[in-house]
Amino acid sequence: MKVAALFILGCLVWEGMAKPEFPEQEKDPDFWKEWAQRTLKNALTLQDLNKNVAKNIILFLGDGMGVPTVTAARILKGQLSGQNGEETQLEMDKFPYVALSKTYNTNAQVPDSAGTATAYLCGVKANEGTVGVSAAAVKSQCNTTRGNEVTSILKWAKDAGKSVGIVTTTRVNHATPSAAYAHCVDRDWYSDGDMPAEALQSGCKDIARQLFENIPDIDVIMGGGRRNMYPRNTPDVEYPGDKKHNGTRKDGRNLVGEWTDRMKDKRGYYVWNRKDLFSLNPNNVDYLLGLFEPADLPYELERNKETDPSLTEMVDVAIKILRKNERGFYLLVEGGRIDHGHHDGKAKQALHEAVEMDRAITRAGLLTSIYDTLTVVTADHSHVFSFGGYTHRGNSIFGLAPIMSDIDQKPFTSILYGNGPGFKFVNGARENVSTVDYEHNNYQAQAAVPLSMETHGGEDVAIFSKGPLAHLLHGVQEQHYIPHVMAYAACIGQNKDHCHTNSGSPSLSHISPTLALLLSVKWLLC
Ligand SMILES: *[C@@H]1O[C@H](CO)[C@@H](O)[C@H](O)[C@H]1NC(C)=O
Ligand SMILES: *[C@@H]1O[C@H](CO)[C@@H](O)[C@H](O)[C@H]1NC(C)=O
Ligand SMILES: *[C@@H]1O[C@H](CO)[C@@H](O)[C@H](O)[C@H]1NC(C)=O
Ligand SMILES: [Zn+2]
Repeated sequence: MKVAALFILGCLVWEGMAKPEFPEQEKDPDFWKEWAQRTLKNALTLQDLNKNVAKNIILFLGDGMGVPTVTAARILKGQLSGQNGEETQLEMDKFPYVALSKTYNTNAQVPDSAGTATAYLCGVKANEGTVGVSAAAVKSQCNTTRGNEVTSILKWAKDAGKSVGIVTTTRVNHATPSAAYAHCVDRDWYSDGDMPAEALQSGCKDIARQLFENIPDIDVIMGGGRRNMYPRNTPDVEYPGDKKHNGTRKDGRNLVGEWTDRMKDKRGYYVWNRKDLFSLNPNNVDYLLGLFEPADLPYELERNKETDPSLTEMVDVAIKILRKNERGFYLLVEGGRIDHGHHDGKAKQALHEAVEMDRAITRAGLLTSIYDTLTVVTADHSHVFSFGGYTHRGNSIFGLAPIMSDIDQKPFTSILYGNGPGFKFVNGARENVSTVDYEHNNYQAQAAVPLSMETHGGEDVAIFSKGPLAHLLHGVQEQHYIPHVMAYAACIGQNKDHCHTNSGSPSLSHISPTLALLLSVKWLLC
C-alpha cells in the first residue's frame, strides 16, 4: 500500500513539474520498430559464430563496476556529450555477448577484490584478502602459502610465448593486478615494510618484489606504486619534500634500479611521468615500466594532465608495444578507482572513472580486430550504489528526484548508497540536500547507514565479450570460469587438445573434425 501511495504521489508531483524533454521522433511507433529491426538484423549475423583462435586476449576489469554503475556511467557519458544519456551506448554496450558473474569468495558472500581477482585471473575461487593462492591458504598466515599457489592466465600466456601487460589506475601491486603474478596470503603486503616479522622470517615475499621475480619480465607494467619499490627514507622523485611518499622497503632494495639494469640491452624503459611516456616510440620499446605515482593514480577528474597519463593513453601505448609479438598478447587493464570513488561515497568520481575506462575500451577496439582478439569487460564485485526516484528523462545523473519524501518533506538525490560516509544528520534529522552542492565532484551521496567506508555489494556483475569464442561467456556463470574461456579461445593454459598447429599458427578443431575441415575450407576461400 505504501509503495502504491508513493507511486501515486510521484505521479501527481510529476504532473505538476515541467514535462520531460525527449526527441519528437520517439512519439512515432515506427521509430522504435525500425530501431529494433536494425538490432535484430545485427543479432542474426551472430548465428555465424566467430570460432577463430584468439591471438590476443584483453581483460578490462572495472573494480567495483556493478550493473547500476554501468547504467549510471552510460547516462553520464551521454550527458557529457549533450544527450539525455539513457539512450547512449557505452562501448561495452556494443559487445555482442553478455553474461552474469557470481562474485562470492569461498569464505565470503560479499567478496573483496583479492579473492575475486584470483577467480577471474587464475580460474580458482579463493578466500577474501588473498591473491594467487587457493582457498586452502588462510589470510595473513604465511605458512599456508607453500603448496597452495595457483597461476594466472597472464603466466599461461607468457609461457605460450605471448607478450603480456598490466595497466591499472591503482598501484601495480594492488589486489587486482597482483593476482596476475603474485602468490600472497595478504593483499596488504605491498612491500616488506608492510609485513609482520614472522611472515618475513618464514620466507613469505612482499607483492612488489614478486612483480619482478615471479614471471620473467612482464613486458608492460603501468600504474602507480613507486614507493613500494624503493628503500625506506628514499624521497620520491616527484614529491621529494613529502615524507609520506618516501620509499617503504626494509630490505634496502631498489626494485626499479634492478629492473633498469636487467633491461640495459633489451629495449626496456622506465618512465615516471606522462611526458617521458610520450617521448617513447612504442615500435622501439619491448619492455616498459611506468610508475606514475607513489601510490594510486589520481582520479580522472583530478588528474594533472601534464604529469599523469589517462587510462586510455596507457592502454594505447601498451597495445602498441605488445602487438609487435607475432604470437599475440594478453593484457589486463584495470579501471581501479571506480571502487575507490564508491568507497568514499563520491559517486561522481566513481562514474567518471567508469566513463574513462569505457574510453579506453574504445581505444583498444580501434587498435585490435574482433577476428583475432577476444576482449572481455567485467567487474570483480558491485557496490551498494543505487539510483532511482522516478527521475525524468535526461535528468542530471547527479540530480534530484522530482519528488519530495512524503515522510520528511525533503528532496533527495537520485543517487544514494546503502551505507557509507554520506550518512548525515543535521539537527537530528536528514540533511536537506537543497542546501548543498550535490553536483560537486566530491559530494558524498546520502547513505542509509553511517560507515567511514562504503561497502561492496553482493549481486552479480556483468561480463561483456566480443571476438573469438566470445559466445562461451553466456548465461549466469561462476566468476572463475572467465579465464578458462579466455585461455581456451587463445589455445593456452590447460585446454589445448582442441588446437592443432599448422605452420606455427594454432587453429581450432572443437565440436567436430568435419566442422574444422569446413572452417579451414572457409579460410582458404576467404
Ligand atoms: C602457522 O602459523 C600460525 C601463526 O601465523 C600458527 O598459529 C600455526 O600453528 C602455524 N601452522 C603450522 C602448521 O606451522
Ligand atoms: C623521508 O626521507 C627523508 C630523506 O631521506 C628523511 O629525512 C625522512 O626522515 C624520511 N621520513 C620518513 C617518514 O621516513
Ligand atoms: C530545504 O531547503 C530549501 C532551500 O533552502 C528550502 O526552500 C526548503 O524549504 C527546505 N525544506 C525543508 C523541509 O526544510
Ligand atoms: Zn573495494
